[in-house]
Amino acid sequence: MRFSGRVLFITGAGSGLGRATARLFAAEGAKVFGVDVNGPGVAETVETIRRAGGVADSAVCDVGSMAAVRAAVGLAVAAFGGIDILVNAAGIGRAARLEEIDEDEWQRVLTVNLTGAFNTVKAALPHLLVRPGTVVNVASSAGMRGQAYAAHYAASKAGLVNFTRSIALEFASRGLRINCLAPAGIRSPLIRHFIPREDFEKSLVAYYSPPVAHQLAEPEDMAKAIAYLASDDAKMIIGTVLVADWGTLA
Ligand SMILES: NC(=O)c1ccc[n+]([C@@H]2O[C@H](COP(=O)([O-])OP(=O)(O)OC[C@H]3O[C@@H](n4cnc5c(N)ncnc54)[C@H](O)[C@@H]3O)[C@@H](O)[C@H]2O)c1
Repeated sequence: MRFSGRVLFITGAGSGLGRATARLFAAEGAKVFGVDVNGPGVAETVETIRRAGGVADSAVCDVGSMAAVRAAVGLAVAAFGGIDILVNAAGIGRAARLEEIDEDEWQRVLTVNLTGAFNTVKAALPHLLVRPGTVVNVASSAGMRGQAYAAHYAASKAGLVNFTRSIALEFASRGLRINCLAPAGIRSPLIRHFIPREDFEKSLVAYYSPPVAHQLAEPEDMAKAIAYLASDDAKMIIGTVLVADWGTLA
């Protein structure tokens, strides 16, 4: 029960890693407020938490919209009295050659994956500073070095990594710990958009593949890494990138 008495605000809670994280934190005592653009998905997450005896609520929210994020944060605070933990798990992307990525797709990926985290941190900040809180942003191994066929996604995640480090420095003296997780290969709906294509250069695919082929993590495994970063066990960990990638970057 590491999160007993704490309130978690989590984006992307309607699927995959976000859902698994919401469930784990609720099982460990957190009151969970989940947001997602996928209304039925996030409602289902809340239902499963409640069925298991946990406390959860949700809102439909596009993290790319500051107005929508501010409204969702307001609902969370009204429901649970504050926010102690912010997890940014919402994310989009796909494998594509640069020639196939138009301006709209580029902008959307940056907006959701990078500006989305800016929006939630800005909106939740006054609450996160009330009691010493913590933020975990979900980046990617693709944000740690170049990744062919995902230039928009890799750029957004690299931005998220350095956004995390920068604000971790700014808020360390105020007791707000901020870190990020850099996963690779989670068994979730998103991974279907990253299946390497026959026309991709094999050496470039190998460069972003783990040493043991086709290894995928379950969302629940990654949720445990997020829970560690958000827990008091990690109280000395600030501004770090926890890489959980089956050795891909080793
Ligand atoms: N699946 C992987 O292999 C993998 C690897 C590295 C990093 N990640 C990152 O992990 C995070 C979770 O991904 P996942 O694998 O669980 O994918 P997922 O597709 O299962 O879940 C992502 C969730 O984000 C939501 N979302 C998308 N756009 C949104 C928006 N504008 N506002 C609010 N919610 C929005 C989706 O509706 C979905 O419920 C993402 O940030 C992703 O980039 C995933």
